[in-house]
Amino acid sequence: MKIAPSILTADFTRLGAEVEAAFAAGIRWLHLDVMDGRFVPNLSFGPLVVRALRPLADRYGAIIDAHLMIVEPERYLEEYAAAGCDRMTVHVEASPHLHRTVQAIKALGKQAGAAINPATPVGALEAILPDLDLVLVMSVNPGFGGQSFIPGSLAKLAQLRHELDARGLPNVALQVDGGVNAHTIGAARDAGATVAVVGSAIYAPGRPVAAAIAELQAALGA
Ligand code: DX5
Ligand code: ZN
Repeated sequence: MKIAPSILTADFTRLGAEVEAAFAAGIRWLHLDVMDGRFVPNLSFGPLVVRALRPLADRYGAIIDAHLMIVEPERYLEEYAAAGCDRMTVHVEASPHLHRTVQAIKALGKQAGAAINPATPVGALEAILPDLDLVLVMSVNPGFGGQSFIPGSLAKLAQLRHELDARGLPNVALQVDGGVNAHTIGAARDAGATVAVVGSAIYAPGRPVAAAIAELQAALGA
């Protein structure tokens, strides 16, 4: 299972150092939570933070994955691609023309992901699964770090794992996002997730990044 730190709760006065600490601990996947204050009640950051972190990610051969918690994500795909995203994930709930949006992300040469909120059934992804490089199951209500893992997410992960395996889609990343920590990451992996987004369990005041990552890896039996 890959660990993808979310920088949402990182110390933004030292963002480069915070991200480099994760890379130095072996992380090669960075999760950037883009929020517009409309799709979710929080406003985070835009393409300039992607652009700022791209050279650092390049130095470590790391990928930048943008989780677009925004309305009308199709309007911003070129901008996030140009800023340096490797993967872009849009929300099913914000994408009435999801097939067209996924094709647009791939036409930009980027990997395409689709995310579902806690109340959105797995079935909403049924028709688009074969076109995706990544599926994101929200295990909290999107908008903020530091929330508690919604246990019902495990059944959704297991359902998607079964669906992906049954269709012979092993290369589609199954990402779990929200409330993942040393106590929940094992269950998420056992349910079939292949990528764990972790925010506040890595980035919190006074929490050494390397130790936090080691604790997660220990919980995975790594
Ligand atoms: C929430 C974001 C998550 C969040 C994860 O809307 O999509 O990526 O930052 O943070 P934790 O791990 O603290 O729940
Ligand atoms: Zn996220």
